[in-house]
Amino acid sequence: MNERGLLVRLSVIGCGYLGAVHAAAMASLGHEVVGIDVDEAKIADLAAGRAPFYEPGLDELLRDQVGRGALRFSTDPAAAADATVHFVAVGTPQSPDGRAADLRYVDAAVDSLLPILKSGDVVVGKSTVPVGTAAAIAARIAEHGSGARLAWNPEFLREGFAVQDTVGPDRIVYGVARAGDELDEAAAAVLDEVYAVPLAAGTPRIVTDFATAELVKVAANAFLATKISFINAMAEIAEVAGADVTQLADAIGHDARIGRRFLNAGVGFGGGCLPKDIRAFSARAEELGRGESVAFLRQVDEINLRQRQRVVDMAVASFGGSVVGRRIAILGLAFKPDSDDVRDSPALDVAVQLNGLGADVVATDPHAIANARGRHPQLRYEADTTAALAGAESVLLLTEWREYRELDPVATAALVADRHVIDGRNVLDRARWRAAGWRVVAHGRA
Ligand code: UGA
Repeated sequence: MNERGLLVRLSVIGCGYLGAVHAAAMASLGHEVVGIDVDEAKIADLAAGRAPFYEPGLDELLRDQVGRGALRFSTDPAAAADATVHFVAVGTPQSPDGRAADLRYVDAAVDSLLPILKSGDVVVGKSTVPVGTAAAIAARIAEHGSGARLAWNPEFLREGFAVQDTVGPDRIVYGVARAGDELDEAAAAVLDEVYAVPLAAGTPRIVTDFATAELVKVAANAFLATKISFINAMAEIAEVAGADVTQLADAIGHDARIGRRFLNAGVGFGGGCLPKDIRAFSARAEELGRGESVAFLRQVDEINLRQRQRVVDMAVASFGGSVVGRRIAILGLAFKPDSDDVRDSPALDVAVQLNGLGADVVATDPHAIANARGRHPQLRYEADTTAALAGAESVLLLTEWREYRELDPVATAALVADRHVIDGRNVLDRARWRAAGWRVVAHGRA
């Protein structure tokens, strides 16, 4: 414990989604934290207690922790010099020229840390990286001669639940250096201090080598992506066979070995993680000479992208073959509810495609319009749901925000020009909507 009654001095390099949440959450666990990022505007927002993106509960947490002096932000890497544990939480996006992960931000973060590392410090990787990255970084740190060590501690937070997932994760994984059969227990002990609160609450903890920790992360996301594409494949079959994919998911989901979660058929997965992680995983497997082992991930990706096309096709078919000039309301732009993130968003993709086909698209979202407009200024946006629905000849529900799930079919019918809805997330009560005169189209439901 330091002189201010705070436990461990931490730095968090990279204050994007992962880093900003991690920094605030670690401060709330009793540590003294400095968050560092090269983006001055982002740092100014965070230092003022404002999240630079929409995440429920984060503004409040930032304000509290900055206010009590446990959390500060800086653009100067030297601000990390007092810390003894340094989290690397920068992004690893898809490379501009291929499927592999782009590691330039991880390399830059390590470069910025090398000059300030001291003996006993622990650098902790949180970014999602191709297996083998941690070993290479550990070698660089060792070569530099500071006596600092490395651990890899993957993050499993979900957007929309990021704060609760970070403060109370469902498992904690440490990858540490291995010499023969010996794992670096000293690095694990430092992380035990950092995670003392969730560990005391009984959170399972797995201590392993670097490669396993790196693979745990991508394997988890690959499994989740596979589960979603599996149910979307079943949806395609259900449609031609006259079956109902939602009931199928309910029925197989009762088997505890399968489980009902992540079996919601619809327009598919997007975001800054699942799509790029499965691509980076197969690219890395190919580099390792084992591309065939995860060849199915290419199909997982294809099935997923096909669901967007299928929504476009459903819309085109509903207008008898052409959407030119037809007024279409798109409900939802974020890749999932409770987020303003539009990275690889299926909803935004569908909106752009229909607009490109000549439809008169009006898109709305409770929080993601600004981000969507930044990427696609050519689309027409309407912040108010009622205004977006007014005069629509077809309504596409593509992100299942609560306010769209709870739309009243009778009141909505009074706004639109034609009662036709494509439920791209399988969340509407079809019987109620049909009773109000709607034609309801959805993935996997004949
Ligand atoms: C995902 C993982 O769930 C987290 O555990 C992980 O930490 C994170 O990636 C990451 O690597 O950082 P996230 O991207 O926030 O989290 O979103 P998810 O909740 O996994 O949803 C991903 C996508 O799948 C969304 O577009 C969602 O709409 C879609 N989805 C989800 C479905 O289409 N069907 C489902 O049944 C579930």
